[in-house]
Amino acid sequence: MKQTRRKFIKSGIVLSSGIALSNSTAASILSTKAKDQKSSFPIAISTWSHGVPATKAAYDYLSNGKNILDAIETGIHTAESNPEIMSVGYGGFPDAEGNVTLDASIMDKNGNAGSVAYLKNIKHPISVARLVMEKTDHVMLVGEGAKQFALSHGFKEENLLSDAAKADWLRWKHEQEIDSSENHDTIGLLAIDKDGNISGGVSTSGAAYKLPGRVGDSPIIGAALYVDNEIGAACATGLGELVMESVSSFLVVEKMREGYSPTEACEIAIQRIYKRIENKENKNQVGLIAINKNGEYGGFSLSKGFDFGIANSSENRLLKTDHL
Ligand code: GLY
Repeated sequence: MKQTRRKFIKSGIVLSSGIALSNSTAASILSTKAKDQKSSFPIAISTWSHGVPATKAAYDYLSNGKNILDAIETGIHTAESNPEIMSVGYGGFPDAEGNVTLDASIMDKNGNAGSVAYLKNIKHPISVARLVMEKTDHVMLVGEGAKQFALSHGFKEENLLSDAAKADWLRWKHEQEIDSSENHDTIGLLAIDKDGNISGGVSTSGAAYKLPGRVGDSPIIGAALYVDNEIGAACATGLGELVMESVSSFLVVEKMREGYSPTEACEIAIQRIYKRIENKENKNQVGLIAINKNGEYGGFSLSKGFDFGIANSSENRLLKTDHL
């Protein structure tokens, strides 16, 4: 995780897009340029190993010609419903008081956005976020208002604290110990449909044992998720505070607009985060993935161990990213 091990070169580089890069940025980009992959449409990519079943579900929808937002929702539901994924939906880690509170966001090809934050007892926050986008004049609903909105649209109240998550929480209350690198495994899913249109969504239970009231990056448009159908899309997972402070997904899309590839853009955004971190030895994780209008995709992370799933007509697998 040390920038010092990077090789810097003496002269700046001009990309084919005509953009002049600073020496340090150009050097680090050279190290990852080969990592981008390209896919035909449709395609779905999604954070972490739970991104493999999520992208499979999304791709199956897309390949059947179904609506891309249905595909995003369906893919993310696979994680929200799975109690073994303790960072998303049902079975997610609760806050310090034992309450599971969920954040989610969604963006469509027209740049419309919807999100929910601090939502309790509703299993599929991504679906509520979509309804906020489609049925209201607002972008974000939070807390009790978000829950009442969900209930008014037929969602059922459910207990989201699984037995396993409750046992872990009780243990934490006693021991007060947690591995901070392992508890922000937000699912973010980006997709391109057969017509080349892009959408994305993000869902999480947030940081384990967080201070009650804490909301992370996932419902913040531009932080954990950004879609610009002319350029591409990006999403984030990991320590939300770092992502929010750098508006990482928006930055990735803007870097792709400047001509950088998805992997390059993600690396630049991770470097931006790293620059701001005071304690460089801290093992916090942030992972970014991105896809551009041509179907090129990639990712990059702050620390070792980040991977993402991809599904298209020829494969459904997990890919590791490079990290600082
Ligand atoms: N990235 C999820 C969170 O920090 O809440």
